[in-house]
Amino acid sequence: MNNDLDINSLNQIIRLRRNRSTDWIREMVAETRLFISDLILPIFIIEGSNTKQSIKELPGVYRFSVDLAIKHIKYASSLGIKVFMLFPVIDANLKNNQATESYNENNLLCRAIKAIKSAVPDIGLISDIALDPYTSHGHDGIIAKNNYGRLVIDNDLTIEILKKQALAYVKAGCDGVSPSDMMDGRILAIRKFLDQNAYQDSLIFSYAAKYSSSLYGPFRKAVGSNVENENNLISDKKTYQMDYRNASEAILEVENDIKEGADVIIIKPGIFYMDVISKIKHKFICPIASYQVSGEYAMLKIASEHGIINFNEVFKESLYCLKRAGANSIITYGAIEAIENNIIS
Ligand code: PBG
Repeated sequence: MNNDLDINSLNQIIRLRRNRSTDWIREMVAETRLFISDLILPIFIIEGSNTKQSIKELPGVYRFSVDLAIKHIKYASSLGIKVFMLFPVIDANLKNNQATESYNENNLLCRAIKAIKSAVPDIGLISDIALDPYTSHGHDGIIAKNNYGRLVIDNDLTIEILKKQALAYVKAGCDGVSPSDMMDGRILAIRKFLDQNAYQDSLIFSYAAKYSSSLYGPFRKAVGSNVENENNLISDKKTYQMDYRNASEAILEVENDIKEGADVIIIKPGIFYMDVISKIKHKFICPIASYQVSGEYAMLKIASEHGIINFNEVFKESLYCLKRAGANSIITYGAIEAIENNIIS
């Protein structure tokens, strides 16, 4: 017998296709599972009552007044979704460079948290910590001049505001906060401040590796925090959000945030950053949430509206792939559709 024949007969012994041959065997050997409890639903909150606004850039996603947000959350909860992230749309006249409205204990988000928590107490509410909904320029932090005379997003000044914002939100009743601002050292500062105020049980979901991504466009339209439209002196978020060419740096970010007391690590965006999820999964023992961001959702939705892809099939694939990469949970605008359309049951 020559070598070729050996290889041939070996091929006929090992036939990987056998485990793909029927539905039941594929189900049995599937390496990745998706559960309803993996899903986290973002909710956009607006002032007023009985108001529901569609968002052109995010077909099928709405901004809700608090009363309708409660209805929506009750419905999602009846389907089994138990974790929600809240994002407020703040009136332009309440915005300034110091983001003072962010820690007003009676601001829109605090009122929403109180009302939602009393109407639907058994759900998890997590609130975004960053100043972009509250600054007139749309940045996540405070603009100030540094000692070189350069305008910067001032790290330490910003942290002082973030601490107050976090305390206002947990006092209103949210179960956790998710700092998405990317300032250095903010997890430790927020953790200590919450602890000093006896909120040691509040969770911190840290956006540890948040990249400066153009996929956030539809979200910024949804909350009205677009930096480009503001005749801005600092026109993008590259001085604080990560450079998408870097992956090792994400390890440093995550390591710091775990040491600073983060309970859950968020990696954002989702699909384009699956290598980062995988690296973090192998390096650390920590729960990982992947944020499938607005631009990703919009691409799937709009391509499917044009008949180019099948939304359900591609959306399902995206959720499984994020889990396969190592995500424990997925923040997605399609959480309800995933259940309604039997992607997960
Ligand atoms: C605020 C924030 C952003 C997103 C979540 N929190 C936008 C940004 O950083 O500019 C984006 C989410 C999405 O695109 O779905 N810091």
